Amino acid sequence: METSLGILLPLIGTLAILHIVQAQSQQGFINLDCGLPANEPSPYREESTGLQFSSDATFIKSGKTGMIQANWMDDFLKPSTTLRYFPEGRRNCYNLKVEKGRNHLIRARFVYGNYDGLDTGPKFDMYIGPNRWITIDLERRVNGTREEILHIPTLNSLQICLVKTGMTTPLISALEIRPMANDSYSTKSGSLELFSRRYISNSSSSLRFPDDVYDRQWSSYIRSAWTPISTTSVVSNSNSYEPPKVALTTAAVPTNVSAPLTIEWTAENPDDQFYLYEHFAEIQDLQANDTREFNILLNEKLLYGPLIPSKLVLTTIFSRSPIICDGGECSLQLIRTNRSTLPPLINAFEVYRVIQLPQSATIEEDVAAVKTIEATYGLSRINWQGDPCIPQQLMWDGLNCSITDNSMPPRITTLNLSSSGLTGTIAAAIQNLTQLEKLDLSHNNLTGEVPEFLGNIKSLLVIILSGNDLNGTIPQSLQRKGVQLSYEGNTRLIPPGSPTKPQKTKVLVPIVASVASAAILIVVLVIFLVFRKKKPPTVQVVHPPSSRPAMNVTYAYSPEPSIEMKKRRFTYSEVIKMTNNFQRVVGEGGFGVVCHGTVNVSEQVAVKLLSQSSTQGYKEFKAEVDLLLRVHHTNLVSLVGYCDEGDHLALIYEFVPNGDLRQHLSGKGGKSIVSWGTRLRIAAEAAQGLEYLHIGCTPPMVHRDVKTTNILLDQHYKAKLADFGLSRSFPVGGESHVSTVIAGTPGYLDPEYYHTSRLGEKSDVYSFGIVLLEMITNQPVIDRNRGKSHITQWVGSELNGGDIAKIMDPKLNGDYDSRSAWRALELAMSCADPTSAKRPTMSHVVVELKECLVSENSKRNMSRGMDSLSSPEVSMIFDSGMIPRAR
Ligand SMILES: *[C@@H]1O[C@H](CO)[C@@H](O)[C@H](O)[C@H]1NC(C)=O
Ligand SMILES: *[C@@H]1O[C@H](CO)[C@@H](O)[C@H](O)[C@H]1NC(C)=O
Ligand SMILES: *[C@@H]1O[C@H](CO)[C@@H](O)[C@H](O)[C@H]1NC(C)=O
Ligand SMILES: *[C@@H]1O[C@H](CO)[C@@H](O)[C@H](O)[C@H]1NC(C)=O
Ligand SMILES: *[C@@H]1O[C@H](CO)[C@@H](O)[C@H](O)[C@H]1NC(C)=O
Ligand SMILES: *[C@@H]1O[C@H](CO)[C@@H](O)[C@H](O)[C@H]1NC(C)=O
Ligand SMILES: *[C@@H]1O[C@H](CO)[C@@H](O)[C@H](O)[C@H]1NC(C)=O
Ligand SMILES: *[C@@H]1O[C@H](CO)[C@@H](O)[C@H](O)[C@H]1NC(C)=O
Ligand SMILES: *[C@@H]1O[C@H](CO)[C@@H](O)[C@H](O)[C@H]1NC(C)=O
Repeated sequence: METSLGILLPLIGTLAILHIVQAQSQQGFINLDCGLPANEPSPYREESTGLQFSSDATFIKSGKTGMIQANWMDDFLKPSTTLRYFPEGRRNCYNLKVEKGRNHLIRARFVYGNYDGLDTGPKFDMYIGPNRWITIDLERRVNGTREEILHIPTLNSLQICLVKTGMTTPLISALEIRPMANDSYSTKSGSLELFSRRYISNSSSSLRFPDDVYDRQWSSYIRSAWTPISTTSVVSNSNSYEPPKVALTTAAVPTNVSAPLTIEWTAENPDDQFYLYEHFAEIQDLQANDTREFNILLNEKLLYGPLIPSKLVLTTIFSRSPIICDGGECSLQLIRTNRSTLPPLINAFEVYRVIQLPQSATIEEDVAAVKTIEATYGLSRINWQGDPCIPQQLMWDGLNCSITDNSMPPRITTLNLSSSGLTGTIAAAIQNLTQLEKLDLSHNNLTGEVPEFLGNIKSLLVIILSGNDLNGTIPQSLQRKGVQLSYEGNTRLIPPGSPTKPQKTKVLVPIVASVASAAILIVVLVIFLVFRKKKPPTVQVVHPPSSRPAMNVTYAYSPEPSIEMKKRRFTYSEVIKMTNNFQRVVGEGGFGVVCHGTVNVSEQVAVKLLSQSSTQGYKEFKAEVDLLLRVHHTNLVSLVGYCDEGDHLALIYEFVPNGDLRQHLSGKGGKSIVSWGTRLRIAAEAAQGLEYLHIGCTPPMVHRDVKTTNILLDQHYKAKLADFGLSRSFPVGGESHVSTVIAGTPGYLDPEYYHTSRLGEKSDVYSFGIVLLEMITNQPVIDRNRGKSHITQWVGSELNGGDIAKIMDPKLNGDYDSRSAWRALELAMSCADPTSAKRPTMSHVVVELKECLVSENSKRNMSRGMDSLSSPEVSMIFDSGMIPRAR
């Protein structure tokens, strides 16, 4: 069998009763009549369906109401005769409450009906949260259109947005949401857009609620080569798909009994992926010697078979993975087997097209915080609708966000509410924007004190409170290095250093080390001017002219924290100054201690001090440093400068603030345990750094000491490899190294290298394999108390059990896609192969990890359960007690 299919054989049971109960109460149905005039009763009962429709007014904060022209009225049900249109704002959104993780049918109806007398149907886009769903073109669809999707919301709130894309005004007539059964219409990834939903009948009526408990809409379908058949008996429809009973009482067979029954369609796009659902029930009386048995083929490949439909009882055959048709031409054929005396039959079918909605929404906490702030200050901004950060071109005014890749929820990094007429105190909800980097509340009427919590937001480095009426003192927590605080014009505020008297003069005071005030003024002025422009890409900090020659330092707002220094050689006294006399030791590497330092006002660096004895000579040191200064890759910690004054040797690196991977895996020191998806991303990034060393730079380099403590993480959890390249002029010393000849850390060390002393890229691949095993299992690399002391031996023995759950880090709580886990595990084991020739290259590793990540992300985004790897390609589901027939 080519495709994995499922079959649902029906049984009457509790499930069916549950659904009937749900249907009667229309549980969870949302029926919005968009643009229902305020003077009409809401909710009201729609006659043909009996559904209660309500006005949409409380679910959206913008838009105007309209009504289609009288000559169109008769063609539509009442909910579609009125509409809401959106002359203002580019994006207007409905906010609906749903159950996260549950599949929902979302249907929107659009009828232009020349409501504005302009006789021009609009064209615009629909979004679900941050993802574009579909383009609506009412110029082409003059008779209106409905769009339907089966989608699993990842949050309990669902935003359906209309986005203006041209000159015309978006509109919507009705919005209908129905929660679906848990175990129906699941996909490997993506949501399902309705392509076709038909029941086979020669009648011309279509079916929906109450015939269909989920209010799916079924149109009738028949072809000339078919003969319709029907029954007056009741057909049982109880499985998780539950098509309407009445849809199952009719069916068709090919008129020529030996011909196949064929259903064909053409994909708009040859790559389109489809999911098929076919519903069968025997509705004819069969003689004792009659058999109806057929195979189901798609484009001449067997999908499922043979099938014998059960008498008056539903059988559903459905896809478990997507189907792609050659050249976009799909042909579903039912062909009777040679022992069948009767032609094939079909009662109903559904075809859905997969659409990917991969973009993660902005993290919920940030959205909640910014909405609380909006409410606190009574702000009403037309463009504060939908996702705050995504899509980028519709980002809310006054915000900036960090957007990495679409699997990472964006975070809000800037909040600019300057000149917004704010009154009251500084909103407490600001503290929930935990990744905020810049806050501008200037030129409002804010009163009260500067809250302590601003200092607790570690990332918050620029705070502009000027032009308000704040009082009290500046909290101690804000008087730390790197924080730029400006508060001129707050005449009642007491500046630091003058504990009694409120400030009289207008001064901008960045709370930084006491450098020449003229320089500070320049710095602040530049910052101020840049921030007054709408979107500062970077903030340029100009160094005080009195000390070192000018250096251009781009500040940490650019996604790449690139410290570009014209001058890279520092004097020892500069090193002392930047580290504040080596005050803060942040680590101890293979070569010596590492201190935190600050260059200029706020640029953080890590200064690695080398003992003179560890170098083999100045010339080699200099050559090597020159080489390293030229290595630039986003996943490598960059060397930004050095000092080589007399005995004093130091290397100055970019500072990577979020600790190393080992700390995060262990959860020690207040570090978080990273999720599986993030681990894969970190692994892929670290692999790219290594790949760059191996093939991207000239001459190629071998890292020689790949390990989890050498993978550093920045504030966005981006991986940066540290400690590379110091190989030739430095015998690697320090706590953990085997000898001065063989470099590396026990456990990570390539056994072949150990025996032959021949070093190559494949030695790094081995060490990377060990890192990957650590990330997967979170086991120590060497544990003498464990039966199998080395991690490869341990994993090897656990692999025999075949249970991935026993191997995976228990701290992940099973929250991973087992396919991506297996794949990563296999990759790790091949990297850690004792024979170097059998190990993959880093390029191969990068490709594999990226694919794991895609697989994991699609699972994560859609929150869909995955079949485990061991599940058969074709599976049958039985509601209970049914014994599978051998096929
Ligand atoms: C719109 O409906 C009318 C009347 O049913 C029909 O004649 C016309 O072809 C339809 N137009 C389109 C574009 O479907
Ligand atoms: C469906 O799933 C939801 C959430 O996962 C759960 O709360 C609910 O009980 C499930 N319902 C059924 C019928 O399984
Ligand atoms: C539909 O088919 C049935 C036979 O199955 C026939 O009795 C009926 O007249 C047909 N109706 C139409 C509208 O063709
Ligand atoms: C019926 O179908 C079979 C198989 O497709 C074909 O060989 C035969 O010619 C058809 N008979 C008629 C009368 O069309
Ligand atoms: C099945 O049995 C009926 C009589 O019961 C007979 O008329 C018919 O020809 C038989 N059909 C086949 C295919 O044997
Ligand atoms: C049915 O068809 C299969 C091949 O499709 C063939 O092997 C088998 O002999 C046929 N059986 C009969 C009874 O004709
Ligand atoms: C802010 O306060 C000033 C003086 O009290 C007042 O003139 C101004 O109207 C206030 N602005 C707002 C937006 O409340
Ligand atoms: C911050 O968020 C937490 C939960 O995420 C919430 O309970 C709290 O009320 C929020 N604080 C403010 C001031 O909005
Ligand atoms: C700050 O001003 C508010 C009124 O705006 C007052 O209640 C509060 O006591 C003042 N705080 C200090 C420290 O002066």
